[in-house]
Amino acid sequence: MALYKTESKDRVRDAVDFVELVSARTELRRAGPARYEGLCPFHEERTPSFGIDPTQKVYYCFGCQSSGDLFTFVQETEGVDFRGALELLAERYGIELEREEEDPREAERRKKRERLLELLSRTAGYYERVLWESSEAAKAREYLLGRGLSEEILREFRVGYAPSAWDRVLLASRRGGFTEAELYATGLAQRSRENGRPYDRFRSRITFPLSDIRGRVLGFGARAMEDEDAAERGGPGRGDGGGGRRPKYLNTSDNDVYHKGLHLYGADLARAHAAKAGQVILCEGYTDVIALHQAGMRNAVGLMGTALTSEQVGELARMAQTVLMALDADTAGQEAMLRASALAAKRKLELRVVALPEGADPAELIQRDGPEAIASAVERSVPFVRFRVERVLAAGETGSPEGRDRVIEELRPVFATLPPSAMRMELTRLVSSRLALPESMAEQLLARGAGRSGARGAGGRSSGGGASSGQGGAATQARRGNGGGPGGASGGVSRREDTERAFLALCIAAPEEGSVALHALDVERDFSNDLLRRAALHLRDGGLEAPMAQAPGESAEEGSGPNGDEQLRGLLAELIVQAGGEAPNPGMLEVQRLQLELARLERGIQRARGQEGTDVTGLAREKAALKIEFDRAYARVLEETGDRGV
Ligand code: UTP
Ligand code: MN
Repeated sequence: MALYKTESKDRVRDAVDFVELVSARTELRRAGPARYEGLCPFHEERTPSFGIDPTQKVYYCFGCQSSGDLFTFVQETEGVDFRGALELLAERYGIELEREEEDPREAERRKKRERLLELLSRTAGYYERVLWESSEAAKAREYLLGRGLSEEILREFRVGYAPSAWDRVLLASRRGGFTEAELYATGLAQRSRENGRPYDRFRSRITFPLSDIRGRVLGFGARAMEDEDAAERGGPGRGDGGGGRRPKYLNTSDNDVYHKGLHLYGADLARAHAAKAGQVILCEGYTDVIALHQAGMRNAVGLMGTALTSEQVGELARMAQTVLMALDADTAGQEAMLRASALAAKRKLELRVVALPEGADPAELIQRDGPEAIASAVERSVPFVRFRVERVLAAGETGSPEGRDRVIEELRPVFATLPPSAMRMELTRLVSSRLALPESMAEQLLARGAGRSGARGAGGRSSGGGASSGQGGAATQARRGNGGGPGGASGGVSRREDTERAFLALCIAAPEEGSVALHALDVERDFSNDLLRRAALHLRDGGLEAPMAQAPGESAEEGSGPNGDEQLRGLLAELIVQAGGEAPNPGMLEVQRLQLELARLERGIQRARGQEGTDVTGLAREKAALKIEFDRAYARVLEETGDRGV
């Protein structure tokens, strides 16, 4: 069910200044009565092939075929889903979104949750003030700045400090009208095991707010200061969970608001940059993410110490096509990469590895060798599979035949994940040269059954995934391919398609005449593929006034979901943008309509000629009559444009 009322969505649509919205991403200039042009924000180009229609609020790129409306534009550029785009625009343009009637219990739950989020956000603000203003936090400030992190970037990530007292958050929250139950529910306070009294969970720690993709604080990661291990002994009740050594990081535990493994650290700040770059950098720690952002790599997110979950992989896939993994070279990091690759295979996600010097994480590398060091490591990233092969080769003992056999044995499961491809060939060549084996031999040895020993998860699973990622490719192509459609479009056909498209664009530019012209045509026979036919029917049957607003597949919740006719939406966006570049021209519309009819007759004649004993004179006569009409219409158009002195 849609979350927000359709009217709300329409009000947002009306309120948005599409030119302004798009201009934040690329410089636009006017290129027609209802058209602006600019360099495409979705692919690299030197001359503009990207156009928008400012009133219909749709865009289309003739270069990369990306297309959509104001909502998809925000989805794509900001890396959010439809709902996120709607909420973001509503906020930016000051529109209040009205919800669909909610089940009262649901409404109750939501209100409760909103209060908890409010409490978390206030607390984040409180910790921030403590970090920058209290004398107690002087050492923490010194420590953070000493690690090379600037105040500016720390403020951006809302890093803070939880003071040593047992009840600061407790007292402040009570004063703010929050209940004890709410403090427990957010994980900000806990109850002493000894005397049942509540106390603040985070004390004497540097706090890192953990936010969702929209930047709402859900919990905290809190780092102990190195030399303060014993500082907090002996408070009231001493209920710190058993008096053992303090963990380096104390995080919010799973609760109703925060779920470990669902989020990526810094995703809210990184998502727009990741969407733009088409790449997201995945690292392990909080400080790594912050240091990377400070070094200008604003598309970095962090794992937060969990084993990578499929939800996180989903999140990464929404952010960008390519994930650059800058994880530790230790086993946990390797494990995370293997998990990532098994999960990524199902999603058409490209994985690359950023090799880090042994024992250094990105934050340390940046502090030690400067931002250039990490930038160049990122630049030299290699495809994950290549990284695995190189690692096995580097670690293997290739001096003896037995050693080489072991290396082959280890490489087999890796190769099992590789479909026949240029990459496979290249890696085979690499193995053959390192092991001093003839290439055909290496090929043969590596291909032999995935090997009993290699059945350990990654190999087996992702070889299955290889097939499905192939399907993903086909799906992407279908989405990108903007017309080709069934029926094997060859070079010759595409000119015909061009005419048909141009005609439909003219219909949109002059809707009244367009409707008449569309009704005069035989859509089934006059259009060369199914997609164009669907578009013609949609426009003919009421879609001309606002083609996208009523485009099939648009639902308040889904935007252009896979259930809708996404191909049709893409084509419509293209046509609208094309139409916006031209003044309405009923004369030309008539010419094109006649041209389509002529083309149909011509096809009929060709077909008839191929069949023996068919008389084509009837068709030929019809065609001749139509040709006269066409010539007249064309002459009129020439005359008109001549009058205007164009
Ligand atoms: P690291 O131990 O590598 O810490 O753990 P770090 O990020 O490099 O921290 P600094 O640089 O010493 O300040 C990586 C990540 O694992 C999680 C945290 O998210 C941390 O950023 N972690 C680590 C925990 O949750 N708890 C811990 O006790 C340790
Ligand atoms: Mn570190």
